[in-house]
Formats: sequence, C-alpha cells, structure tokens
Amino acid sequence: MDKKFKRTLVTTALPYANGPVHIGHLAGVYVPADIYTRYLRLRGEDVVMIGGSDEHGVPITIKARKEGVTPQDIVDRYHKIIKDSFEEFGISFSVYSRTSSELHHQTASEFFRRLYDNGQFVEQTSKQLYDPEAKQFLADRYVTGECPHCHSEGAYGDQCEKCGTSLSANDLINPKSAISGATPELRETHHWYLPLDRWQPALSKWILEEHTEWKPNVYGQCKSWIDLGLQPRAVSRDLDWGVPVPVEGAEGKVLYVWFDAPIGYISNTKEILPDTWETYWKDPETRIINFIGKDNIVFHCIVFPAMLMAYGDNFQLPDNVPANEFLNLEGDKISTSRNWAIWLHEYLRDFPGKQDVLRYVLTANAPETKDNDFTWRDFQTRNNSELVAILGNFVNRAVVLTHKYFDGVVPAAGNLTDIDNEALAELKAIKERLTDNLDNFRFREGLKEAMNIARLGNKYLQDTEPWKLAKTDMARVATVLNIAIQICGSIDIACEPFLPFMAGKLKTMLGLEKLEWADLGKSDLIASGTKLGEAQLLFEKIEDEAINAQLDRLDRIKKENQVKNFKPEPIAETIDLSVFEKADLRIGTVVECKPVKKAKKLLQFLIDDGLEQRTILSGIAEHYKAEDLVGKQVVFIANLAPREIRGIVSNGMILSALNADGSLKVISPSAPSTPGAKVC
Ligand code: 2FM
Ligand code: ZN
Repeated sequence: MDKKFKRTLVTTALPYANGPVHIGHLAGVYVPADIYTRYLRLRGEDVVMIGGSDEHGVPITIKARKEGVTPQDIVDRYHKIIKDSFEEFGISFSVYSRTSSELHHQTASEFFRRLYDNGQFVEQTSKQLYDPEAKQFLADRYVTGECPHCHSEGAYGDQCEKCGTSLSANDLINPKSAISGATPELRETHHWYLPLDRWQPALSKWILEEHTEWKPNVYGQCKSWIDLGLQPRAVSRDLDWGVPVPVEGAEGKVLYVWFDAPIGYISNTKEILPDTWETYWKDPETRIINFIGKDNIVFHCIVFPAMLMAYGDNFQLPDNVPANEFLNLEGDKISTSRNWAIWLHEYLRDFPGKQDVLRYVLTANAPETKDNDFTWRDFQTRNNSELVAILGNFVNRAVVLTHKYFDGVVPAAGNLTDIDNEALAELKAIKERLTDNLDNFRFREGLKEAMNIARLGNKYLQDTEPWKLAKTDMARVATVLNIAIQICGSIDIACEPFLPFMAGKLKTMLGLEKLEWADLGKSDLIASGTKLGEAQLLFEKIEDEAINAQLDRLDRIKKENQVKNFKPEPIAETIDLSVFEKADLRIGTVVECKPVKKAKKLLQFLIDDGLEQRTILSGIAEHYKAEDLVGKQVVFIANLAPREIRGIVSNGMILSALNADGSLKVISPSAPSTPGAKVC
C-alpha cells in the first residue's frame, strides 16, 4: 500500500433488500472486496470493510406491493437472508448493517439538512408522471416504457437495463405505470435538486486529471458524463417509504434512495466505530475504496462525491472505485425477475461446504474488464482440473510424504541444490507479481499467481522425485520435503484472501499459528520439527450428476420463462375456404416408427391410412421416443406431393403443435377414430 496512507476504508455496494443475493453480486462486488480486505489484513494494515442492506426505494415498495405485505416485512426477510449468505461465503465485513436503522435515518437526515441549510440545493416545481388510478407519483421503477436510446421495451424510469443508460422517467416513450398499468399523466410536484453542474469543474479535475489510473471502464463512464455536462439531480421523491425529507412542509416526500444509500456507508462506519469513525472518513491519510458494479459508477464517482464536497467538513473522496462489469449465466443476462440466477442460499444447499469453489470460479472468471459468462461446465472443470488436480494434489502429496517418511514431523533441510534454490527464487518472483496484482485490483491475475505456487510445488516434486530418493538418500528427501512444506505454507498465505475456508484447514494441517503476508515466500516459514496434522483432502471432485442437475434446473427455468412470455405469432393472411379444402387432412394410425440414420431430428413413420400403409418423415425425433408413438393416432396431410429426404420418400406431413417452450406435440384425435377418416 502507498505509504502516504495510514488506513483503508473499503466500502461495498449496499444490495437492495428485495431478494436474495446471487453469483453476480458475489463476482461483481463482494468477493473482490473481500479478497482485497483480507490481503490488507494479512499485511497488518488498518482496514475496515463496510457493508449493509439498501432498504429504501422503489425496488422494495414494488416487491411489498406484489406480495401484499409491508416494505418493512420485505426488508426484514431479505436483510437476514442476504446477511446469512454473505457470512456463509466468508465475506468478512467489519459491519453489515441496514439503512432502515435509526442511526442511518439520523445520519442521512442530518446530511440533507446541512446541505439544505447551506444553500446546496435548488428547489424546483416540475411536471412528473402521475398514476391517476393508484393516485401516486411514479418515481423510478414505478414506471416502465420504451428506452429513448436503444428502443427496447421495459426500461425503468431511472434506468434501461438493456443498454445501461441512466434515464429520467419523463423521457420514456409510451410510459406505463408499473402499479396499475395505467397511462400516466403529468402533474406538478416540488422537489430538491443537487446542482451537479456547480461541481462539474471540481469533479472534472478530481477524476479526469487526478485519477487517470482508474480502470478504463470507470474512467470512461465518468468522462462521458462530464463531457455531456452535469445537470441538477432530484434528491427527493413522492413516496411513503424512506427517510422523510427533514424540512417543514415536505410531507409525503422522502430522500431519493440514491441520496441516502451511500450515506449508509458513513452510518455503518459510525455503528462500529462510534468514537473514531471520523478518522476513517475525514483524515486525508485514510484511503477510501468503493467496490461496486458498473451500474453504480455514476452514483459513486459523480453524485456521492458531489454530496461529500457540498457537505465539506473534510469528507474524503474515494481514492479508487474498481467497478466490475457484469457476470452472465450460461450466455444470458442474470435476471431476478426471470429467476435466471444462481442464488447463494440454493448453491449452499446443493454444494454444502463448497464455498471456496464458487469463490475460486467467480474470481478466475471475474468480469474485471468486460462482461463474462459463468457456466456450470467451467465450474466443474475448474474444480476438478485446477483445485483438485493442482492445488489439492500438491498439498496432499507433500503432507502424505512427510507423514510416510518422517512421521509427520517437518524434517530439517540440508544443503540446498540448484533445483531447490530455483524453486525458492521462483516463489519470491510469484509473490512479487501476486502482490502487484492485488495492489492494483487485478484479482483474476492474482489468483493465477497464487495457483502458480501450487504448480511450482507439483513441478518441484516431479523433478526431485522424493519417493525414488527414499531408497538411497534420506538426507536429500528431508531437504526436498522441507521445501515442499515451505511451499505449502506459502500457498496457505497466498490463497487466504481467495479461498479462506481452504486456508483455514491448511493452516491447521501445517501447524501455523498466524498467516502474514511478510512470511509468504520464506524458506523457513514452517520450522523443522513442526508436527503436521493428518493429511486432509482440501477439495473433492464434482461429478457429472451434480452439474447435470443444475443444467436441468436452468433448462426448466428457461422453458417456464418461454411459456410466461409466450406471444402467439400473428394470425396469417386470410384465405378462402376453397384454398383450405385443397388440403386433404386425415386420421392415420402409427404402425411403425423408427429413427432415421444420421438425421437427429427425423422419425420415419409407417402410417395406416385406411387404404394402405404409407411412409411419412417428421422432424420430431428430439421430442419423442420412436417406440412411444407406435399405436398412436395422428392427423396428417394425405395429398402432399411426395418428397425425398435422405433417400427416403415421405408421403405426407404429420401435424404437430409448436409450443411456447419450443416442444412439438403431435396432434391426435380426442377419441379413437377410424384410420382414413377425413379431418374437417
Ligand atoms: O444497485 C444497487 O443494488 C444499489 N442498492 C446499490 C447501492 S450502493 C450504495 F450507494 F449504497
Ligand atoms: Zn436502452
């Protein structure tokens, strides 16, 4: 860490308490923040990590309305679920609180009041969307419509999730109330605005000149906002859920959720450090790092800093905002409303004790510079071929061999040979690269380096072959196993930020008392004479069945969504009855049915049509087992011109329904009918 700083305040975006958390949350914000915080702790730095639930705003009230319960019921339920999930995944917050707390209400209220008293707001009456049926103004997500930028449907009043643009509700094309479906009308209402334009020069200097080191995605987004020219932004809403606007005559108005939520970082720091919180916010020797997802960049880099500057009193601005891009799931955007997500509490139910595996995969695949995809196959491969085969395997071999040849007591090393010195030098080089990656928020690369220590260990054992040396040279075996155990110790320290559960187990196995970054790479990290614990498997193989069950679940969800969103195709052009009557539709009975070689979609039918038996090919092989169709009755077009497909002549066409979930279902008469009967 840069020497000019004495301490670090790590903040993590406060998730809305309107649903459980999923892998996108972990990958985007909480795992990277936790890796960074754990790393600083290993370095002995003074660091606090702030988290909490965001319990205000329309996302909460919409959920409450949908379920017919109060907003308080919703936030109580999800705050607990979210907090528990984070704990179970080892996200080591110094505090995880909530914005419905009394302390937060007081802090946010006082913050607003000071800005108000100091003339930092402009007040404006303007026309906003109003739902005449629900008798309520339609803030933010209460209104949906067509995005004025990318023209996709379903954009919210505050943001289009499709193109990520931040919107103002009045800009939506064909707006609709999300409460009643009514077309809103414009009505006058009075609000307080933060004049971001006043802060434009200061923000521009601070970000564009002084923080050119920020990640390109973050810097670029800020630059385009600033280049467009900052506008005043409303910081109050007409809602009955939130922190009331602390001004006379402001009944029915609350603080905009994006005004109060970032103040939550301050409230939550106060909660754990009632006497010293100001040092973490106002001392220039504190470094503030905001971990967020890309949809939160503008609020953390522009709006909240403007609020802090307007407040004054020495509040420090963040030193870095290492925002991540988004994580997709199996090629599709993660979505709460479509249930297209892996929920943390469900993951733990299906993969108990495997928190580190998910942390590993999410870091190895982190969306640090671009959106990335999580796939269950990749999850399985990374577990089986990396965690089990590289990391687990090396540690196991080193510990088992030490038990076998030295009763589990770490032997003293003798004279070191070139191969030993090279391994130890490489260990130091890895440490340097790993440290540099962690200092610069490159956690994917950092994880690769941590794994390189295990790779180095495997290569070292492979090259020295202590199991062969044991026949002739036990002194050399002692040296080799001493070094192998030192490498295990370095793995323990290097991996602790990434895989804390594994690191805890390994620490016990190696008899280490404390992990410290300064010890990483040392050749005397574990003293000779240390008695090792029993060798335990650090990771276990994940079998195909477990992965297939997850893929089946996603497949089911995809189908359910297709059914939910099904819009039948528009009815085709009108035809005369005489045209329809040209098609001779008949009932036939399936006499034989078999797959067609090298055509995975086709089934070959022999149909009794009452006059003779005819062959018909149909593209339904992916929807039926051939033998299940024998004996069934079908509807077919009997006078279709014969067609040759793959050397087989098809005489007709069997009719099927193409359903919303993409399945094909053969049409059959509702009661047994006579083969050859006309369908009319
Ligand atoms: O996007 C979100 O989920 C917001 N609840 C994040 C808030 S971050 C902070 F400002 F509190
Ligand atoms: Zn859009």
